[in-house]
Amino acid sequence: MHRFILLFVLVFPLFVNAQVTTRYNIIQRPTENSVTIAWRTVNPEVGTLMYGDDPFSLVNVASNPTATTKHFFDVSGLTSDSKYFYQTSTDAGFLSAIDSFYTAKPDSLSDITFLHYGDCGYNNTIQNDIAALMLTEQADFGVVAGDIDQGVGDDYENIFFGVYKDILKQSCHYTCIGNHDIIADNGATYKDAFYLPTNNPTSTEEYYSFTWGNAKFVCLNSNADYTVGSPQYDWMLDEFKCNDRQWLYVFFHHPPWTNAWDALYYVPFQPYYLYEGNEDMRTDLVPAFESYGVDFVLNGHSHCYQRGEYNGVHYIISGGAGATTLDFNTNSNAPNIQNELYINQYVKFNIKGDTCYYVCKDETGAIVDSVGTVKPFVPIRPELSFDGTTITSTVGDSYEWYLDGVQITGATSQTFVPTQSGVYEVITTNQYGCQFESDPLTINVAGLADLTFENLSVYPNPFSDQITIAGSLGIELNAELEISVYNTLGQQVASDVVSTNGSVYTTINLAHTRTGIYVVELVSNDVRSVYRISKH
Ligand SMILES: [Fe+2]
Repeated sequence: MHRFILLFVLVFPLFVNAQVTTRYNIIQRPTENSVTIAWRTVNPEVGTLMYGDDPFSLVNVASNPTATTKHFFDVSGLTSDSKYFYQTSTDAGFLSAIDSFYTAKPDSLSDITFLHYGDCGYNNTIQNDIAALMLTEQADFGVVAGDIDQGVGDDYENIFFGVYKDILKQSCHYTCIGNHDIIADNGATYKDAFYLPTNNPTSTEEYYSFTWGNAKFVCLNSNADYTVGSPQYDWMLDEFKCNDRQWLYVFFHHPPWTNAWDALYYVPFQPYYLYEGNEDMRTDLVPAFESYGVDFVLNGHSHCYQRGEYNGVHYIISGGAGATTLDFNTNSNAPNIQNELYINQYVKFNIKGDTCYYVCKDETGAIVDSVGTVKPFVPIRPELSFDGTTITSTVGDSYEWYLDGVQITGATSQTFVPTQSGVYEVITTNQYGCQFESDPLTINVAGLADLTFENLSVYPNPFSDQITIAGSLGIELNAELEISVYNTLGQQVASDVVSTNGSVYTTINLAHTRTGIYVVELVSNDVRSVYRISKH
């Protein structure tokens, strides 16, 4: 009898969870400082979210006093590229496990990994096998190229949220809407199921953009009007013109070209019978991709993998994350396709600075294609550097300088010589009228006049992995020397405090920094000196 009671106590909480939850926790639309966390219950209940940066102390608590089956909490005030832990509960006894997620990386951090897949399947074996593989990738986020529900767009709990629940509780998979997603009710269920960004004039979830690290992603709805002059097209152009990231991606469901379509396959969406791509995309969207520096176009719809490059734009179709009706070559000859594999698969991207590398993996996890491409870094947002006398901005079409948030009258050139201490920023404007703001740079002018430590050297310059600071301080014995190294964004990348006996010999490890200009600041006993160094 005791054994029975113990067993009941152990099993009961699981039983409660299984009964009240139709969708486990999901991470949606994370930015550098915000996130949306959602889950759903069978019955209307009062939901509570607890979160924090310590899994043993979830100090932040938010509750929605209105009982609902659709629980979601918009959380703000977070720190970029940071891990947060969270737990959800309801007043009916549901208590989730403690899950975790990362906020988006800022532009200055360039090592990002993400997945691209589409046409997910029907909660079938292949879809679940590929889901298990994708979970092991531990990607920052995913990009899902439509036909999220391979049926008629009314069963996301079973076909998407259930299959990918272990992925979605820790990372956001950004979806775009496919033709299957609008069959049942023109996408109403799709838009109800997801909590997507709405950063467009009509606040629709059908198209949006987001950034992660040094990459920007623009999502389109290829079921809706995207032709030149349409609201969606005009919004897309503005996103391209004002892009401030190194890598620019566009993702949507239907591809402009595909080599794959079975002519005998029933396709109930005229004129896409004998489908070889959306012809009007080639006249309306592709010229914009080529003119405004789009690097990658990610699609689904064709149940296969195809990739290639055309006029400087990379095109990838990844439409086999679970779809069982694989397409095959119909003797099309799309100019943007150089490799095509008619298999179930997904794509994993990794961006590290100037290099984007992607692999296609089949349903066993084997790499069946891999491509690397390099894009030299050209700053779009202004970056400031300070040589001890002059602040210099990277190139823009025009400049407005600010000190402590107040515009400096007449300061409109690429350089500015500070005469007072404070926080300096510059706003540049590009040829389309888009404005880009630099990160703030703190300048301390007070010490600039007597800035030199006699016989103190910072070397080598240029350096590769570390610098050495050595020589005599020329000041009293037993002083401490504070060492700070800043990048051109004004961000501290290394620091140390060393004791001296009037002379110093120490090294600073800078192996983790990228190539570029750095400023070394040395401070001791009210004497401050800055050294401009570069990393090759
Ligand atoms: Fe489709």
